[in-house]
Amino acid sequence: MTSPLLELEHVTKRFGRVVIAEDLSLAVGPGDMVGIVGPNGAGKTSLFGLISGDLAPGAGEVRFAGRTVTRLDPAARCRLGIGRTYQVPRPFGDMTVFENVLVAAQQGGGLRRKASHGAAVAALERTGMSEHANVPAERLGLLQRKRLELARAVATQPKLLLLDEVAGGLTDPEVVELAEIVLGVNAEGIAVIWIEHVVRALTSTVSRLICLAGGIFVGDGDPAAVLADPGVREVFLGTDITAALAGGSLDTSSADIAMQPPSADSAPGQSAAGSERGEP
Ligand SMILES: Nc1ncnc2c1ncn2[C@@H]1O[C@H](COP(=O)(O)OP(=O)(O)OP(=O)(O)O)[C@@H](O)[C@H]1O
Ligand SMILES: [Mg+2]
Repeated sequence: MTSPLLELEHVTKRFGRVVIAEDLSLAVGPGDMVGIVGPNGAGKTSLFGLISGDLAPGAGEVRFAGRTVTRLDPAARCRLGIGRTYQVPRPFGDMTVFENVLVAAQQGGGLRRKASHGAAVAALERTGMSEHANVPAERLGLLQRKRLELARAVATQPKLLLLDEVAGGLTDPEVVELAEIVLGVNAEGIAVIWIEHVVRALTSTVSRLICLAGGIFVGDGDPAAVLADPGVREVFLGTDITAALAGGSLDTSSADIAMQPPSADSAPGQSAAGSERGEP
């Protein structure tokens, strides 16, 4: 069996009495395509923080590409190949799309001039953003902002791409377009972990689905089996997905299912989480 690209071992994180991650262990292989679902406040974004280095765990170990990265900062982890998008896109508004992606290639990916230009151009092509290269980021609409966020992460030349609700707030056709881009990135051998409330986007792309709730994994495996699991359904009791999944229909690829109203631009705790790094 191929050795895992990413490994979490007994990772625990709490903010006061709020359990963010409770003894989480996880292995993701090179080129894997994994989806993560869970209700609001489940700890999904925080899990990404623990992987990317924005959050330091209280206990446990994070390994990436054969080395322990638990104490490495986000910049160092990014250079090793962990790229991420943020739930609320964070472009430099007064810089053009190309400049934003170039900065990501240089600062995030550690690429030098010529290589960074090549990586930026390739990332824009890959995400269908080439025609917007000279547009200031602040003038982009939601779909383009989401794509730019993706392009910036891709430009760092990741081995593992962490996507945090890149489909949130998009129309159905836009979700399909975005899912195709993500599949294309994954087809190049980049492992993807994709947090998404728009279940349709995941069921049509991922081969493994994890359900996170209250800082623990309550489901992990084949997407249809995970969504059919009574424990997983229990987690979503009272939310849109409960009604959508009622009656045994798990054909979520054709159903218009969102677990929650799209939360593209509302991310409680997310920006705060980003600033927590470095706490003792
Ligand atoms: N820096 C922080 N300090 C204190 N509490 C935090 C911090 N970051 C997150 N939290 C809390 O941790 C819990 C998990 O937050 P997280 O953002 O990881 O959830 P999520 O699953 O991504 O939710 P959503 O689906 O709404 O994006 C929430 O209760 C949140 O308020
Ligand atoms: Mg989140």
